Amino acid sequence: MVQIAVMGYGVVGSGVVEVLTQHAESIAKRAKEEIRIKKILDLREFPESPFTAQFTKSFDEILEDPEIRVVVEAMGGLHPALEYTRQCLEAGKSVVTSNKELVAEKGAELLALAQGKNVNYLFEASVGGGIPIIRPISQCLAANEVIGIAGILNGTTNFILTKMIRDHMGFEDALALAQKLGYAERNPAADIEGEDACRKICILASLAFGKHVYPRQVHTEGITDITKEDVEYADSWGGVIKLIAEVKKLGNGQLQLLVSPMFLSRESQLATVDDVFNGILVRGDATGDVMFYGKGAGKLPTASAVVADVIDCVKHFKARKYLFWEDGSPDYVQDFLRNPASMYVRAKDESGGGLKKADALFGGVTPLARPGAEPAEFAFVTPKQEEGALQQKLETLEAQGVSVLSRVRIGDFS
Ligand code: HSE
Repeated sequence: MVQIAVMGYGVVGSGVVEVLTQHAESIAKRAKEEIRIKKILDLREFPESPFTAQFTKSFDEILEDPEIRVVVEAMGGLHPALEYTRQCLEAGKSVVTSNKELVAEKGAELLALAQGKNVNYLFEASVGGGIPIIRPISQCLAANEVIGIAGILNGTTNFILTKMIRDHMGFEDALALAQKLGYAERNPAADIEGEDACRKICILASLAFGKHVYPRQVHTEGITDITKEDVEYADSWGGVIKLIAEVKKLGNGQLQLLVSPMFLSRESQLATVDDVFNGILVRGDATGDVMFYGKGAGKLPTASAVVADVIDCVKHFKARKYLFWEDGSPDYVQDFLRNPASMYVRAKDESGGGLKKADALFGGVTPLARPGAEPAEFAFVTPKQEEGALQQKLETLEAQGVSVLSRVRIGDFS
């Protein structure tokens, strides 16, 4: 029998306890050991819970208990999750987590610590919820050189954009609906500003290319400025707007990363990933494109990934699982202003000559139209050029009396 502890009894932690309890028999068969929850750490009271005997408010009770060999960290946030994880690993306990913020910021350090102590630090649930993606990249696709990864990695923003596209809702109304249905966090900033997707692409990039990518190295834009008008222009262009997180390996060894809303052609596989679903496209040199699809959030899908990691830990007490990346470096990610991009731009010019000005500046643009646009409004797609040049030209356009209302990059992954 193996004793474990669960730290944090929120959505994920309670889901882990539920799955471990309900599927105890089949899990024991797969792990070849019975798995028992000895302690649950949470500062709140749960008087109605059938697990009252296991609850504790003291982390030391877990740390100092030699019978507890695996700890599930489902607390979220950086502190005290980081300190608790470090102490558990130092004490020779394996740790399993769904905490993408912690893995994205401290993955290299915690993996090195786990390696030094010959224990496991596993985090399948940190990206894509119930979608298997960490194990496939580190094991099943291990024979490939990964060329790039592009994904819809945040369910909340995908739900909001789907409502804007299908039901013609405005951003605020779609966000309010996501909150009402319990998809968005009460403070949804990490979702709608793109930070959550950024953390997840950092984890995937670190894993696929073997060196830590930190969230601060990735240019990140959310979906708060996307309007119904932009959705209409995307439709007339032949696509939809999605929040895409992507990484590409460059010939010089650097990585190119970006988190941003993008126009995706309707033919793109990611364009059909709707509602709260996530989709992750991994491009390998041997496999070509491999697509992962499923529920990227929610209590039971996430708990399912956590429990699978617990089983893996139990099966690998003697031979540690190989999951590792080295620390990052400041020049590992290409300067964002050097990324090549083509951009949709919506603008207004009361003089009526805006499109001609844009055409001259960008060296030929493709105009777009939408029904019901005011006479002064116009929209176009630029040719591909470096982000820095695009930004400069947009500033020049504004200096020529054009108001730029919105801009969205054109996705070029597929
Ligand atoms: N807020 C996240 C999402 C939860 O909407 O995808 C899962 O990481």
